Amino acid sequence: MGGPGLAVQELSVGYGPVRALRQVSLDVPEGAVVTVLGGNGAGKTTLLRAICRTLSFHGGAVTGGTVSLDGRRIDGVPPDRVVAAGISQVPEGRQVFTRMTVADNLRSGALGATGGRVERAAALRRVHELFPVLADRAQQRAGLLSGGEQQMLAVGRALMAGPRMLLLDEPSLGLAPLMAERIAATIREISAQGTSILLVEQNAALALRLASRAYVLEVGEVTLSGPAAELAASDEVRRRYLGVVDEDAAADAERARASHPALTRWKG
Ligand SMILES: Nc1ncnc2c1ncn2[C@@H]1O[C@H](COP(=O)(O)OP(=O)(O)O)[C@@H](O)[C@H]1O
Ligand SMILES: [Mg+2]
Repeated sequence: MGGPGLAVQELSVGYGPVRALRQVSLDVPEGAVVTVLGGNGAGKTTLLRAICRTLSFHGGAVTGGTVSLDGRRIDGVPPDRVVAAGISQVPEGRQVFTRMTVADNLRSGALGATGGRVERAAALRRVHELFPVLADRAQQRAGLLSGGEQQMLAVGRALMAGPRMLLLDEPSLGLAPLMAERIAATIREISAQGTSILLVEQNAALALRLASRAYVLEVGEVTLSGPAAELAASDEVRRRYLGVVDEDAAADAERARASHPALTRWKG
């Protein structure tokens, strides 16, 4: 813990005339879990594209600022060099290759890695330990997996490169709460194994439980940052991102539900 890790400084990004990020600065220290919260269109995916150097595939470009890993600039290198430097991304919407087998999807994740056969085999063992279902269904087409299993595959594929830092783009999106919890538990496990994590999420409740530090991104700018526990306690974050309107009212509603079991069918 506490190494220099990833440092984003005053990063600005545009898609043609559209300014998507303005002077965004954030740090992901070695070993930490850091989250970036923000609604739709805040610039979360753009931030990850800028770090991974894939902006140009989407018609975007960095217009200012720097990105460094352990003090070395990575904002001028091609995407494969970012992977080789130890950063892997789990993209928005999973983007697994649905017509390929689970095993081939995982194999594709090792393509950008610097390690040899031994490292690849170790990475595959790690992925299978984290997600036994991916071993069980290795020869099935990825398109046959459930949404949650496809998210596991997307995470597993990123881990195949043996990254020191994992970037996760809304891994809980579209998943049932129970499956989102399982993904959260594996993120914790991956972190405990020593991988640093940058998690972008709209699901603030989930992300703030995992992270030690959090940033709020609004229309391309960081408007709030601090220890995750502090943000979770802040009125503004609770109101805007955790959907807490009034604590007493929420507690009353909970008590009312508990004392009227006949109404359970309304729980949805
Ligand atoms: N390929 C693109 N071309 C033009 N504008 C884009 C492109 N991708 C994203 N944007 C714009 O950049 C802003 C940030 O988008 P995005 O990074 O996808 O936000 P988020 O991931 O937080 O939902 C939005 O205004 C969005 O419309
Ligand atoms: Mg996004």
